[in-house]
Amino acid sequence: MARMLSGIKPTGQLHLGNYIGALKHFVEYQDEYDMFTFIANLHCITVPQDPQELQKNLHDCVALYLACGLDPKRSTIFLQTDVKEHAQLGYIMCCHTYMGELNRMTQFKDKQAKGETNLSGGLYTYPALMAADILLYDPDYVPVGEDQKQHVELTRDVAERMNHRYGDLFKVPEPLIAKVGARIMSLSDPDRKMSKSDETNKGCIYLLDPLNAARKKIMSAKTDSLGVVHYDPENQPGISNLMQILSSLSNDRPFAEIEQEFAGKGYGDFKRAVADAVCATLEQIQNRYAEICASDLIETTLKEGAERASVLAAEKLSKVQKAIGMEIL
Ligand code: AMP
Ligand code: TRP
Repeated sequence: MARMLSGIKPTGQLHLGNYIGALKHFVEYQDEYDMFTFIANLHCITVPQDPQELQKNLHDCVALYLACGLDPKRSTIFLQTDVKEHAQLGYIMCCHTYMGELNRMTQFKDKQAKGETNLSGGLYTYPALMAADILLYDPDYVPVGEDQKQHVELTRDVAERMNHRYGDLFKVPEPLIAKVGARIMSLSDPDRKMSKSDETNKGCIYLLDPLNAARKKIMSAKTDSLGVVHYDPENQPGISNLMQILSSLSNDRPFAEIEQEFAGKGYGDFKRAVADAVCATLEQIQNRYAEICASDLIETTLKEGAERASVLAAEKLSKVQKAIGMEIL
């Protein structure tokens, strides 16, 4: 079975866009791949964090991934800092990455260009740590969004460089970019992505939103004056976004079928159907979330995950240190 590895950097509350665009796919990947999923808490602190908020985000992130169907029996789920080899190999990777390469990474460059001050050294060397995260486990694939592709390419370059210099140390992984990953748009401004940086809070449905609040957001979603349920993102972005949500939450039901069902009906009926589907999904996730929080599942998952991951990570780190000539015995 091919191996897949992914790191999740929880930087806020998870929302419906995250669920449809990312979490749902992770759950599906478990059937096809030997999955390694870790919570990238070392990466979180490359920007300033409020300690209490960070801890809550990390906890909720694990709980929600489990609630959405990530299965600790089939996937190896762990916290990055529970496997110390990440930081250690991260440092070694940093010593094998050129500053010229780090200077080219767009994520850092963008922040710098925006004039953000007090950027940390950790943020600058972040891609070297990410290379270590990946190369410790010899995965075949790394599923990432478009914004992270450059980091996986850097990982490949550094892996090839070290393989060339020290002999075969690492498998060179492939990035896996979701094909046409549904892009869920803001409910209040359907020309923009649904995102946690939504100031009005009307356009974004959080997975832990009370059901009546979620329903209200759908019912007041921005539409148009055409009055037909038709998939046309250009001219009917609001309606098309709601159709995308409904389709994704009902086994990728074809748009034509949805158009047919709502032909001759008003937007009110259509929105109610979308709200029902969203609320049914949220209710299931939230019930499971509450059960998980009341149990010791998070603790046992992270403990067992770290144990499993540590075996591979320790073996890899030792192989690398030996090859470099860093070990004495
Ligand atoms: P972020 O919340 O931006 O860190 O993204 C985490 C994951 O969720 C990434 O894989 C994104 O591609 C996915 N994602 C975030 N927002 C959306 C959205 N509005 N629609 C679809 N996928 C999204
Ligand atoms: N950098 C990724 C992000 O911002 C998170 C991440 C850290 C990651 N290490 C990784 C993703 C290793 C894939 C593989 O989302």
